[in-house]
Amino acid sequence: MMTLFLRLLFAVWLAAVSGSNNNNNNNNKRPNIVFVLADDYGFNDIGYHSPDISTPVLDQLATEGVRLENYYVQPICSPTRSQFMSGRYQIRMGLQHGLINSGQASALPRDSPTLADKMREAGYATHLVGKWHLGYYKQEFLPFNRGFDTFYGYLTACENYTSHKRVYPQDGVAYLDLRDNNGPIHNENGHYSTHLFTEKAINVVQAHDTSKPLFMYLAYQSVHDPLMVPEEYEKKYSHIKDEKRRIYAGMVAAMDEGVGNVTKALKDKGIWDNTILVFSTDNGGQVYGGGNNFPLRGHKHTLWDGGMHGVGFVTGGKMPVKGLVNNELIHVTDWYPTLVNLAKGSLNGTKPLDGIDQWDTITAGKPSRRTVLLHNIDQLFPKRGVPLYNDTFDTSVRAAVRVGDMKLITGDPGDAKWWPLPGQKVDFDISDERHKHPNKNVWLFNITADPNERHDLSHQMPGTVRSLLRYLVKFNAESVPPVWPTHDWRSNPSRHGGVYGPWM
Ligand SMILES: *[C@@H]1O[C@H](CO)[C@@H](O)[C@H](O)[C@H]1NC(C)=O
Ligand SMILES: *[C@@H]1O[C@H](CO)[C@@H](O)[C@H](O)[C@H]1NC(C)=O
Ligand SMILES: *[C@@H]1O[C@H](CO)[C@@H](O)[C@H](O)[C@H]1NC(C)=O
Ligand SMILES: *[C@@H]1O[C@H](CO)[C@@H](O)[C@H](O)[C@H]1NC(C)=O
Ligand SMILES: *[C@@H]1O[C@H](CO)[C@@H](O)[C@H](O)[C@H]1NC(C)=O
Repeated sequence: MMTLFLRLLFAVWLAAVSGSNNNNNNNNKRPNIVFVLADDYGFNDIGYHSPDISTPVLDQLATEGVRLENYYVQPICSPTRSQFMSGRYQIRMGLQHGLINSGQASALPRDSPTLADKMREAGYATHLVGKWHLGYYKQEFLPFNRGFDTFYGYLTACENYTSHKRVYPQDGVAYLDLRDNNGPIHNENGHYSTHLFTEKAINVVQAHDTSKPLFMYLAYQSVHDPLMVPEEYEKKYSHIKDEKRRIYAGMVAAMDEGVGNVTKALKDKGIWDNTILVFSTDNGGQVYGGGNNFPLRGHKHTLWDGGMHGVGFVTGGKMPVKGLVNNELIHVTDWYPTLVNLAKGSLNGTKPLDGIDQWDTITAGKPSRRTVLLHNIDQLFPKRGVPLYNDTFDTSVRAAVRVGDMKLITGDPGDAKWWPLPGQKVDFDISDERHKHPNKNVWLFNITADPNERHDLSHQMPGTVRSLLRYLVKFNAESVPPVWPTHDWRSNPSRHGGVYGPWM
Protein backbone atom coordinates (compact mmCIF):
# COMPACT_ATOMS: atom_id res chain seq x y z
CA MET A 1 0.00 0.00 0.00
CA MET A 2 2.73 2.37 1.08
CA THR A 3 4.84 1.52 -1.97
CA LEU A 4 1.98 2.22 -4.31
CA PHE A 5 1.40 5.56 -2.62
CA LEU A 6 5.09 6.47 -2.98
CA ARG A 7 5.03 5.48 -6.61
CA LEU A 8 2.02 7.65 -7.26
CA LEU A 9 3.68 10.54 -5.48
CA PHE A 10 6.76 10.03 -7.62
CA ALA A 11 4.68 10.01 -10.80
CA VAL A 12 3.01 13.28 -9.80
CA TRP A 13 6.36 14.83 -9.00
CA LEU A 14 7.81 13.65 -12.34
CA ALA A 15 4.88 15.13 -14.26
CA ALA A 16 5.34 18.44 -12.45
CA VAL A 17 9.07 18.54 -13.10
CA SER A 18 8.77 17.75 -16.80
CA GLY A 19 5.87 20.21 -17.10
CA SER A 20 7.88 23.06 -15.63
CA ASN A 21 10.77 22.12 -17.83
CA ASN A 22 8.80 21.73 -21.00
CA ASN A 23 11.06 23.59 -23.37
CA ASN A 24 14.13 21.78 -22.28
CA ASN A 25 12.35 18.49 -22.45
CA ASN A 26 11.27 19.07 -26.06
CA ASN A 27 14.81 19.85 -27.01
CA ASN A 28 16.06 16.73 -25.33
CA LYS A 29 13.68 14.61 -27.34
CA ARG A 30 15.17 15.79 -30.57
CA PRO A 31 18.20 13.69 -31.41
CA ASN A 32 21.73 14.95 -31.63
CA ILE A 33 22.92 14.48 -35.18
CA VAL A 34 26.52 13.72 -36.04
CA PHE A 35 27.41 13.44 -39.71
CA VAL A 36 30.83 11.96 -40.45
CA LEU A 37 32.01 12.41 -44.03
CA ALA A 38 35.09 10.57 -45.24
CA ASP A 39 36.99 11.88 -48.27
CA ASP A 40 37.63 9.69 -51.33
CA TYR A 41 36.73 6.59 -49.34
CA GLY A 42 36.18 3.72 -51.78
CA PHE A 43 33.37 1.17 -51.85
CA ASN A 44 35.85 -1.66 -51.26
CA ASP A 45 37.72 0.08 -48.42
CA ILE A 46 35.53 -0.77 -45.44
CA GLY A 47 35.81 -4.02 -43.50
CA TYR A 48 32.31 -5.25 -44.33
CA HIS A 49 33.03 -5.00 -48.07
CA SER A 50 36.74 -5.59 -48.31
CA PRO A 51 38.91 -8.65 -47.74
CA ASP A 52 42.10 -6.66 -47.06
CA ILE A 53 41.10 -3.80 -44.75
CA SER A 54 39.82 -4.03 -41.22
CA THR A 55 37.62 -1.29 -39.76
CA PRO A 56 36.41 -2.72 -36.45
CA VAL A 57 34.81 0.52 -35.27
CA LEU A 58 32.95 1.30 -38.46
CA ASP A 59 31.85 -2.32 -38.83
CA GLN A 60 30.52 -2.40 -35.29
CA LEU A 61 28.70 0.93 -35.69
CA ALA A 62 27.16 -0.29 -38.95
CA THR A 63 26.04 -3.47 -37.21
CA GLU A 64 24.33 -1.36 -34.55
CA GLY A 65 22.41 0.53 -37.23
CA VAL A 66 21.45 0.31 -40.88
CA ARG A 67 23.91 -0.22 -43.73
CA LEU A 68 22.93 1.62 -46.89
CA GLU A 69 23.82 -0.59 -49.86
CA ASN A 70 22.06 1.33 -52.62
CA TYR A 71 23.38 4.73 -51.58
CA TYR A 72 24.67 7.34 -54.03
CA VAL A 73 26.89 10.37 -53.76
CA GLN A 74 28.51 12.40 -56.57
CA PRO A 75 31.77 11.49 -58.37
CA ILE A 76 33.78 14.33 -56.76
CA CYS A 77 33.87 16.36 -53.57
CA SER A 78 32.44 19.90 -54.01
CA PRO A 79 29.40 18.49 -55.82
CA THR A 80 28.66 15.96 -53.07
CA ARG A 81 29.21 18.55 -50.35
CA SER A 82 27.08 21.15 -52.12
CA GLN A 83 24.24 18.65 -52.52
CA PHE A 84 24.50 17.59 -48.88
CA MET A 85 24.41 21.23 -47.72
CA SER A 86 21.58 22.31 -50.06
CA GLY A 87 19.44 19.23 -50.78
CA ARG A 88 19.63 20.23 -54.45
CA TYR A 89 21.30 18.92 -57.60
CA GLN A 90 24.45 20.54 -58.97
CA ILE A 91 22.65 21.65 -62.15
CA ARG A 92 20.56 24.05 -60.04
CA MET A 93 23.60 25.77 -58.55
CA GLY A 94 26.00 26.07 -61.45
CA LEU A 95 28.31 23.52 -59.82
CA GLN A 96 27.91 20.81 -62.47
CA HIS A 97 31.42 21.09 -63.88
CA GLY A 98 34.27 19.97 -61.68
CA LEU A 99 35.13 20.96 -58.15
CA ILE A 100 35.74 24.45 -56.80
CA ASN A 101 39.42 25.12 -57.44
CA SER A 102 41.36 27.39 -55.13
CA GLY A 103 41.55 30.65 -57.04
CA GLN A 104 38.12 30.30 -58.60
CA ALA A 105 35.56 32.88 -57.52
CA SER A 106 32.87 30.24 -57.11
CA ALA A 107 30.91 29.01 -54.09
CA LEU A 108 27.74 27.31 -52.94
CA PRO A 109 25.18 30.02 -53.82
CA ARG A 110 23.54 31.90 -50.99
CA ASP A 111 20.09 31.74 -52.59
CA SER A 112 18.86 28.82 -50.47
CA PRO A 113 19.52 28.04 -46.79
CA THR A 114 22.13 25.41 -45.96
CA LEU A 115 21.40 22.33 -43.88
CA ALA A 116 23.31 24.04 -41.06
CA ASP A 117 21.10 27.16 -41.37
CA LYS A 118 18.08 24.91 -40.98
CA MET A 119 19.46 23.00 -38.01
CA ARG A 120 20.35 26.27 -36.29
CA GLU A 121 16.87 27.64 -37.00
CA ALA A 122 15.50 24.46 -35.38
CA GLY A 123 17.42 25.30 -32.22
CA TYR A 124 20.49 23.12 -32.71
CA ALA A 125 24.07 24.02 -31.84
CA THR A 126 25.89 23.65 -35.19
CA HIS A 127 29.56 22.82 -35.69
CA LEU A 128 31.79 21.94 -38.61
CA VAL A 129 35.13 20.26 -38.06
CA GLY A 130 37.27 19.49 -41.12
CA LYS A 131 36.90 20.16 -44.81
CA TRP A 132 34.58 22.79 -46.28
CA HIS A 133 35.39 23.03 -50.02
CA LEU A 134 32.26 25.01 -50.87
CA GLY A 135 33.93 28.27 -51.75
CA TYR A 136 35.69 31.00 -49.80
CA TYR A 137 36.38 33.91 -52.14
CA LYS A 138 34.24 36.18 -49.96
CA GLN A 139 33.82 36.15 -46.19
CA GLU A 140 30.09 35.51 -46.63
CA PHE A 141 30.80 32.01 -48.02
CA LEU A 142 32.80 30.78 -45.02
CA PRO A 143 31.11 28.07 -42.92
CA PHE A 144 30.43 30.34 -39.94
CA ASN A 145 28.42 32.54 -42.31
CA ARG A 146 26.55 29.52 -43.70
CA GLY A 147 24.84 28.30 -40.56
CA PHE A 148 27.67 26.88 -38.46
CA ASP A 149 28.21 28.36 -34.98
CA THR A 150 31.80 27.19 -35.14
CA PHE A 151 34.23 26.00 -37.80
CA TYR A 152 37.64 24.44 -37.39
CA GLY A 153 39.24 23.11 -40.54
CA TYR A 154 40.30 23.92 -44.07
CA LEU A 155 38.72 25.50 -47.11
CA THR A 156 40.27 23.85 -50.17
CA ALA A 157 40.23 20.36 -51.67
CA CYS A 158 43.28 18.73 -50.06
CA GLU A 159 46.58 19.48 -48.42
CA ASN A 160 49.48 18.05 -46.47
CA TYR A 161 48.16 16.10 -43.44
CA THR A 162 50.75 17.46 -41.02
CA SER A 163 51.90 20.88 -42.28
CA HIS A 164 48.28 21.75 -43.23
CA LYS A 165 49.71 23.50 -46.25
CA ARG A 166 48.66 23.27 -49.86
CA VAL A 167 50.74 24.13 -52.88
CA TYR A 168 49.27 27.03 -54.82
CA PRO A 169 49.71 25.77 -58.39
CA GLN A 170 50.37 29.17 -59.91
CA ASP A 171 53.55 29.86 -57.92
CA GLY A 172 54.42 26.40 -56.57
CA VAL A 173 54.57 27.65 -52.96
CA ALA A 174 52.89 25.78 -50.09
CA TYR A 175 50.58 28.02 -48.03
CA LEU A 176 48.61 27.31 -44.86
CA ASP A 177 44.98 26.23 -45.09
CA LEU A 178 43.77 25.78 -41.52
CA ARG A 179 41.52 28.15 -39.62
CA ASP A 180 38.66 28.61 -37.22
CA ASN A 181 36.08 31.39 -36.79
CA ASN A 182 38.79 33.73 -35.53
CA GLY A 183 41.29 33.25 -38.32
CA PRO A 184 44.30 31.14 -39.34
CA ILE A 185 45.76 28.46 -37.03
CA HIS A 186 49.55 28.53 -37.18
CA ASN A 187 50.56 26.22 -34.35
CA GLU A 188 49.45 22.76 -35.48
CA ASN A 189 52.38 21.96 -37.74
CA GLY A 190 53.16 18.24 -37.32
CA HIS A 191 49.73 17.33 -35.93
CA TYR A 192 48.27 14.64 -38.23
CA SER A 193 44.86 15.87 -39.30
CA THR A 194 42.95 12.70 -38.41
CA HIS A 195 44.07 13.15 -34.81
CA LEU A 196 43.65 16.92 -34.91
CA PHE A 197 40.09 16.84 -36.25
CA THR A 198 39.15 13.98 -33.93
CA GLU A 199 40.37 16.05 -30.95
CA LYS A 200 38.48 19.12 -32.14
CA ALA A 201 35.31 17.07 -32.59
CA ILE A 202 35.75 15.67 -29.07
CA ASN A 203 36.19 19.23 -27.77
CA VAL A 204 32.90 20.18 -29.43
CA VAL A 205 31.16 17.27 -27.72
CA GLN A 206 32.70 17.98 -24.32
CA ALA A 207 31.88 21.69 -24.44
CA HIS A 208 28.36 21.12 -25.74
CA ASP A 209 25.57 22.70 -23.68
CA THR A 210 23.00 19.91 -23.54
CA SER A 211 20.07 22.27 -23.18
CA LYS A 212 20.24 22.35 -26.99
CA PRO A 213 20.50 19.42 -29.38
CA LEU A 214 23.80 19.07 -31.26
CA PHE A 215 24.45 19.03 -34.99
CA MET A 216 28.08 18.24 -35.77
CA TYR A 217 29.43 17.79 -39.29
CA LEU A 218 32.81 16.06 -39.06
CA ALA A 219 34.38 16.11 -42.52
CA TYR A 220 37.65 14.21 -42.24
CA GLN A 221 40.58 14.85 -44.57
CA SER A 222 41.03 11.09 -44.57
CA VAL A 223 41.54 9.29 -46.83
CA HIS A 224 42.22 11.74 -49.67
CA ASP A 225 45.74 11.92 -51.07
CA PRO A 226 48.57 12.73 -50.30
CA LEU A 227 49.21 9.29 -48.87
CA MET A 228 50.44 10.06 -45.35
CA VAL A 229 50.00 8.21 -42.09
CA PRO A 230 51.92 7.82 -38.80
CA GLU A 231 54.01 4.67 -38.98
CA GLU A 232 52.15 2.80 -36.23
CA TYR A 233 49.03 2.60 -38.44
CA GLU A 234 50.88 1.50 -41.56
CA LYS A 235 52.70 -1.21 -39.59
CA LYS A 236 49.44 -3.10 -39.01
CA TYR A 237 49.35 -3.70 -42.74
CA SER A 238 52.91 -4.83 -43.38
CA HIS A 239 51.43 -7.85 -45.21
CA ILE A 240 50.08 -5.59 -47.99
CA LYS A 241 52.84 -5.43 -50.57
CA ASP A 242 51.47 -2.60 -52.68
CA GLU A 243 52.89 0.52 -50.99
CA LYS A 244 50.01 2.84 -51.85
CA ARG A 245 47.42 0.35 -50.67
CA ARG A 246 49.41 -0.26 -47.49
CA ILE A 247 49.62 3.44 -46.54
CA TYR A 248 46.01 3.94 -47.54
CA ALA A 249 44.92 1.04 -45.32
CA GLY A 250 46.84 2.68 -42.47
CA MET A 251 45.04 5.97 -43.11
CA VAL A 252 41.74 4.11 -42.95
CA ALA A 253 42.79 2.52 -39.64
CA ALA A 254 43.52 5.95 -38.16
CA MET A 255 40.15 7.27 -39.30
CA ASP A 256 38.39 4.18 -37.92
CA GLU A 257 40.06 4.81 -34.55
CA GLY A 258 39.11 8.50 -34.74
CA VAL A 259 35.43 7.71 -35.26
CA GLY A 260 35.70 5.35 -32.27
CA ASN A 261 37.14 8.16 -30.14
CA VAL A 262 34.35 10.57 -31.12
CA THR A 263 31.75 7.90 -30.36
CA LYS A 264 33.32 7.34 -26.97
CA ALA A 265 33.21 11.09 -26.25
CA LEU A 266 29.49 11.11 -27.04
CA LYS A 267 29.01 8.18 -24.65
CA ASP A 268 31.15 9.78 -21.91
CA LYS A 269 29.07 12.93 -22.25
CA GLY A 270 25.95 10.81 -21.74
CA ILE A 271 24.33 11.84 -25.03
CA TRP A 272 24.98 8.80 -27.25
CA ASP A 273 21.56 7.29 -26.43
CA ASN A 274 19.98 10.35 -28.00
CA THR A 275 22.31 10.55 -31.00
CA ILE A 276 21.94 9.58 -34.65
CA LEU A 277 25.29 9.21 -36.42
CA VAL A 278 25.51 9.06 -40.20
CA PHE A 279 28.70 7.88 -41.86
CA SER A 280 29.23 8.54 -45.57
CA THR A 281 31.90 8.86 -48.18
CA ASP A 282 31.92 11.90 -50.48
CA ASN A 283 32.69 9.94 -53.67
CA GLY A 284 34.28 6.76 -54.95
CA GLY A 285 37.84 5.77 -54.11
CA GLN A 286 40.84 7.14 -55.97
CA VAL A 287 42.47 4.04 -57.45
CA TYR A 288 45.69 5.94 -58.19
CA GLY A 289 45.98 6.76 -54.49
CA GLY A 290 45.41 3.38 -52.85
CA GLY A 291 41.60 3.44 -52.89
CA ASN A 292 39.45 0.67 -54.35
CA ASN A 293 35.86 0.24 -55.49
CA PHE A 294 35.94 -3.29 -56.89
CA PRO A 295 33.74 -5.03 -58.01
CA LEU A 296 32.15 -1.73 -59.03
CA ARG A 297 33.39 -0.24 -62.29
CA GLY A 298 35.44 2.96 -62.57
CA HIS A 299 36.51 5.25 -59.73
CA LYS A 300 36.36 8.81 -58.40
CA HIS A 301 35.68 11.39 -61.18
CA THR A 302 33.80 8.89 -63.39
CA LEU A 303 30.10 8.35 -64.03
CA TRP A 304 30.47 4.60 -63.47
CA ASP A 305 29.08 3.32 -60.20
CA GLY A 306 32.61 3.09 -58.78
CA GLY A 307 32.60 6.88 -58.85
CA MET A 308 29.43 7.39 -56.87
CA HIS A 309 27.86 4.25 -55.42
CA GLY A 310 29.08 5.12 -51.95
CA VAL A 311 29.77 3.59 -48.58
CA GLY A 312 27.28 4.76 -45.97
CA PHE A 313 25.39 3.75 -42.84
CA VAL A 314 23.19 5.24 -40.13
CA THR A 315 23.77 4.34 -36.49
CA GLY A 316 23.72 5.80 -32.98
CA GLY A 317 22.04 5.08 -29.66
CA LYS A 318 18.81 6.67 -30.88
CA MET A 319 18.42 4.33 -33.87
CA PRO A 320 15.10 2.52 -33.51
CA VAL A 321 16.37 -0.50 -35.50
CA LYS A 322 19.65 -2.39 -35.60
CA GLY A 323 21.50 -4.84 -37.79
CA LEU A 324 19.69 -4.07 -41.04
CA VAL A 325 20.99 -3.85 -44.59
CA ASN A 326 19.00 -1.42 -46.69
CA ASN A 327 18.82 -1.82 -50.48
CA GLU A 328 16.60 1.14 -51.29
CA LEU A 329 17.79 3.95 -53.56
CA ILE A 330 19.05 6.82 -51.40
CA HIS A 331 21.03 9.88 -52.50
CA VAL A 332 23.19 12.43 -50.72
CA THR A 333 20.58 15.19 -51.41
CA ASP A 334 18.16 13.15 -49.30
CA TRP A 335 19.96 13.96 -46.03
CA TYR A 336 18.74 17.55 -46.13
CA PRO A 337 15.00 16.87 -45.72
CA THR A 338 15.63 13.66 -43.76
CA LEU A 339 17.73 15.37 -41.10
CA VAL A 340 15.75 18.62 -40.94
CA ASN A 341 12.55 16.62 -40.37
CA LEU A 342 14.31 14.44 -37.81
CA ALA A 343 15.31 17.65 -36.02
CA LYS A 344 11.66 18.77 -36.18
CA GLY A 345 12.85 21.76 -38.16
CA SER A 346 11.03 23.48 -40.97
CA LEU A 347 11.72 23.11 -44.70
CA ASN A 348 10.27 26.54 -45.45
CA GLY A 349 12.24 29.10 -47.41
CA THR A 350 14.41 26.73 -49.47
CA LYS A 351 14.50 26.63 -53.23
CA PRO A 352 12.81 23.42 -54.50
CA LEU A 353 14.61 20.40 -53.06
CA ASP A 354 15.73 17.35 -55.02
CA GLY A 355 16.19 15.42 -51.79
CA ILE A 356 13.50 13.16 -50.36
CA ASP A 357 12.92 12.36 -46.68
CA GLN A 358 14.18 8.77 -46.32
CA TRP A 359 13.70 8.24 -42.59
CA ASP A 360 10.87 5.69 -42.98
CA THR A 361 12.86 3.91 -45.66
CA ILE A 362 15.94 3.72 -43.45
CA THR A 363 14.22 2.81 -40.19
CA ALA A 364 11.04 1.00 -41.29
CA GLY A 365 12.18 -0.49 -44.58
CA LYS A 366 9.51 1.37 -46.56
CA PRO A 367 10.21 1.47 -50.32
CA SER A 368 12.21 4.55 -51.26
CA ARG A 369 10.10 7.27 -52.79
CA ARG A 370 13.11 8.07 -54.97
CA THR A 371 12.63 6.54 -58.42
CA VAL A 372 14.65 9.12 -60.36
CA LEU A 373 18.21 10.21 -59.65
CA LEU A 374 20.06 12.70 -61.82
CA HIS A 375 23.73 11.82 -61.47
CA ASN A 376 24.79 14.89 -63.46
CA ILE A 377 24.79 16.77 -66.76
CA ASP A 378 28.07 18.48 -67.56
CA GLN A 379 27.82 20.61 -70.70
CA LEU A 380 31.43 21.83 -70.32
CA PHE A 381 33.04 18.39 -70.35
CA PRO A 382 34.67 17.54 -73.72
CA LYS A 383 32.05 15.96 -75.96
CA ARG A 384 32.37 12.38 -77.19
CA GLY A 385 31.18 10.98 -80.54
CA VAL A 386 28.19 12.34 -82.42
CA PRO A 387 24.62 12.73 -81.16
CA LEU A 388 22.66 9.49 -81.56
CA TYR A 389 19.38 11.35 -82.21
CA ASN A 390 18.55 14.85 -83.41
CA ASP A 391 15.30 15.28 -81.57
CA THR A 392 16.25 14.59 -77.97
CA PHE A 393 19.18 14.92 -75.53
CA ASP A 394 22.58 15.26 -77.24
CA THR A 395 24.33 11.99 -76.38
CA SER A 396 27.79 13.49 -76.96
CA VAL A 397 27.31 15.44 -73.69
CA ARG A 398 28.56 13.90 -70.46
CA ALA A 399 25.53 12.94 -68.37
CA ALA A 400 23.99 10.09 -66.39
CA VAL A 401 20.55 9.45 -64.99
CA ARG A 402 18.98 6.61 -63.05
CA VAL A 403 15.29 5.74 -63.35
CA GLY A 404 14.20 2.76 -61.32
CA ASP A 405 16.53 -0.14 -62.10
CA MET A 406 17.97 1.49 -65.19
CA LYS A 407 20.96 3.80 -65.57
CA LEU A 408 21.80 5.68 -68.76
CA ILE A 409 25.23 7.20 -69.37
CA THR A 410 25.96 9.55 -72.29
CA GLY A 411 29.08 11.29 -73.57
CA ASP A 412 32.41 10.46 -71.96
CA PRO A 413 31.85 8.62 -68.65
CA GLY A 414 35.56 8.58 -67.78
CA ASP A 415 37.88 5.61 -67.19
CA ALA A 416 35.80 2.54 -68.11
CA LYS A 417 38.10 -0.02 -66.45
CA TRP A 418 37.46 -2.24 -63.50
CA TRP A 419 40.17 -1.99 -60.85
CA PRO A 420 40.59 -5.16 -58.77
CA LEU A 421 42.77 -5.01 -55.66
CA PRO A 422 46.51 -5.07 -56.36
CA GLY A 423 47.37 -8.67 -57.25
CA GLN A 424 43.73 -9.80 -57.44
CA LYS A 425 42.93 -12.02 -60.45
CA VAL A 426 39.62 -11.70 -62.26
CA ASP A 427 38.15 -13.80 -65.05
CA PHE A 428 36.80 -11.10 -67.36
CA ASP A 429 38.21 -8.36 -69.57
CA ILE A 430 38.80 -5.32 -67.35
CA SER A 431 40.23 -3.03 -70.04
CA ASP A 432 38.88 0.38 -70.99
CA GLU A 433 36.38 -0.25 -73.79
CA ARG A 434 36.49 3.40 -74.82
CA HIS A 435 39.71 2.67 -76.72
CA LYS A 436 38.01 -0.05 -78.76
CA HIS A 437 34.93 2.05 -79.54
CA PRO A 438 36.18 5.62 -79.83
CA ASN A 439 32.79 7.13 -80.69
CA LYS A 440 30.54 5.14 -78.41
CA ASN A 441 28.60 7.55 -76.23
CA VAL A 442 25.56 5.68 -74.92
CA TRP A 443 25.48 2.97 -72.23
CA LEU A 444 22.45 1.48 -70.52
CA PHE A 445 22.56 -0.82 -67.51
CA ASN A 446 20.06 -2.54 -65.28
CA ILE A 447 21.87 -1.69 -62.04
CA THR A 448 19.62 -3.94 -59.97
CA ALA A 449 20.56 -6.99 -62.03
CA ASP A 450 24.04 -5.81 -62.99
CA PRO A 451 25.46 -3.48 -60.32
CA ASN A 452 28.96 -3.80 -61.75
CA GLU A 453 27.94 -2.47 -65.18
CA ARG A 454 29.19 -5.37 -67.25
CA HIS A 455 26.26 -5.77 -69.68
CA ASP A 456 25.42 -2.73 -71.79
CA LEU A 457 21.75 -2.99 -72.85
CA SER A 458 21.59 0.15 -75.02
CA HIS A 459 21.24 -1.80 -78.30
CA GLN A 460 18.71 -4.24 -76.86
CA MET A 461 16.51 -1.60 -75.26
CA PRO A 462 16.40 1.48 -77.54
CA GLY A 463 12.98 2.43 -76.18
CA THR A 464 14.39 2.64 -72.66
CA VAL A 465 17.33 4.68 -73.95
CA ARG A 466 14.91 7.16 -75.51
CA SER A 467 12.79 7.28 -72.41
CA LEU A 468 15.79 8.05 -70.16
CA LEU A 469 17.05 10.64 -72.66
CA ARG A 470 13.75 12.46 -72.14
CA TYR A 471 14.57 12.76 -68.43
CA LEU A 472 17.88 14.34 -69.41
CA VAL A 473 16.08 16.78 -71.73
CA LYS A 474 13.87 17.83 -68.83
CA PHE A 475 16.74 18.21 -66.33
CA ASN A 476 18.84 20.01 -68.91
CA ALA A 477 16.05 22.55 -69.44
CA GLU A 478 16.01 23.19 -65.68
CA SER A 479 19.79 23.67 -65.42
CA VAL A 480 21.41 26.99 -64.71
CA PRO A 481 24.57 27.74 -66.72
CA PRO A 482 27.70 26.25 -65.15
CA VAL A 483 29.77 28.66 -63.08
CA TRP A 484 33.37 28.12 -64.14
CA PRO A 485 35.37 31.32 -63.72
CA THR A 486 38.99 31.55 -64.83
CA HIS A 487 41.68 31.62 -62.20
CA ASP A 488 41.73 34.84 -60.18
CA TRP A 489 45.26 36.02 -59.40
CA ARG A 490 44.07 38.01 -56.43
CA SER A 491 43.49 34.70 -54.65
CA ASN A 492 47.22 34.07 -54.22
CA PRO A 493 47.72 33.44 -50.47
CA SER A 494 51.01 35.40 -50.62
CA ARG A 495 48.81 38.50 -50.84
CA HIS A 496 46.83 37.46 -47.74
CA GLY A 497 49.38 36.73 -45.07
CA GLY A 498 50.47 33.42 -46.59
CA VAL A 499 47.11 31.80 -45.84
CA TYR A 500 44.26 30.59 -48.06
CA GLY A 501 41.22 32.76 -47.46
CA PRO A 502 38.78 35.28 -48.89
CA TRP A 503 40.22 37.64 -51.48
CA MET A 504 37.24 39.76 -52.46
C1 LIG B 1 54.25 17.36 -45.71
O1 LIG B 1 54.92 18.37 -45.00
C2 LIG B 1 56.04 17.89 -44.30
C3 LIG B 1 56.57 19.05 -43.47
O2 LIG B 1 56.72 20.20 -44.24
C4 LIG B 1 57.09 17.35 -45.26
O3 LIG B 1 58.18 16.83 -44.56
C5 LIG B 1 56.42 16.23 -46.08
O4 LIG B 1 57.32 15.78 -47.08
C6 LIG B 1 55.13 16.71 -46.73
N1 LIG B 1 54.50 15.55 -47.33
C7 LIG B 1 53.96 15.57 -48.54
C8 LIG B 1 53.37 14.31 -49.03
O5 LIG B 1 53.94 16.57 -49.23
C1 LIG C 1 42.09 7.86 -30.04
O1 LIG C 1 42.26 7.89 -28.65
C2 LIG C 1 43.43 7.20 -28.19
C3 LIG C 1 43.38 7.20 -26.68
O2 LIG C 1 43.26 8.50 -26.22
C4 LIG C 1 44.65 7.91 -28.74
O3 LIG C 1 45.81 7.23 -28.34
C5 LIG C 1 44.57 7.91 -30.26
O4 LIG C 1 45.65 8.64 -30.81
C6 LIG C 1 43.26 8.53 -30.72
N1 LIG C 1 43.16 8.39 -32.17
C7 LIG C 1 42.75 9.35 -33.01
C8 LIG C 1 42.71 9.06 -34.46
O5 LIG C 1 42.43 10.46 -32.64
C1 LIG D 1 10.77 29.25 -41.33
O1 LIG D 1 9.96 29.08 -40.20
C2 LIG D 1 10.58 29.43 -38.96
C3 LIG D 1 9.63 29.12 -37.86
O2 LIG D 1 9.16 27.83 -37.97
C4 LIG D 1 10.97 30.88 -38.97
O3 LIG D 1 11.67 31.18 -37.78
C5 LIG D 1 11.87 31.16 -40.15
O4 LIG D 1 12.15 32.52 -40.24
C6 LIG D 1 11.25 30.68 -41.44
N1 LIG D 1 12.26 30.77 -42.46
C7 LIG D 1 12.03 31.24 -43.67
C8 LIG D 1 13.21 31.28 -44.57
O5 LIG D 1 10.95 31.61 -44.03
C1 LIG E 1 20.34 14.70 -87.93
O1 LIG E 1 20.17 15.83 -88.73
C2 LIG E 1 21.08 15.88 -89.83
C3 LIG E 1 20.92 17.22 -90.54
O2 LIG E 1 19.66 17.80 -90.34
C4 LIG E 1 20.82 14.69 -90.74
O3 LIG E 1 21.71 14.71 -91.81
C5 LIG E 1 21.02 13.42 -89.93
O4 LIG E 1 20.71 12.29 -90.70
C6 LIG E 1 20.15 13.42 -88.71
N1 LIG E 1 20.53 12.29 -87.87
C7 LIG E 1 19.65 11.52 -87.26
C8 LIG E 1 20.20 10.41 -86.41
O5 LIG E 1 18.46 11.69 -87.35
C1 LIG F 1 16.21 -5.29 -63.90
O1 LIG F 1 16.63 -6.47 -63.29
C2 LIG F 1 15.79 -6.91 -62.25
C3 LIG F 1 16.51 -8.05 -61.56
O2 LIG F 1 16.85 -9.03 -62.48
C4 LIG F 1 14.46 -7.28 -62.82
O3 LIG F 1 13.60 -7.72 -61.79
C5 LIG F 1 13.87 -6.05 -63.46
O4 LIG F 1 12.65 -6.38 -64.11
C6 LIG F 1 14.83 -5.46 -64.48
N1 LIG F 1 14.31 -4.15 -64.87
C7 LIG F 1 14.08 -3.82 -66.14
C8 LIG F 1 13.50 -2.45 -66.36
O5 LIG F 1 14.35 -4.54 -67.06
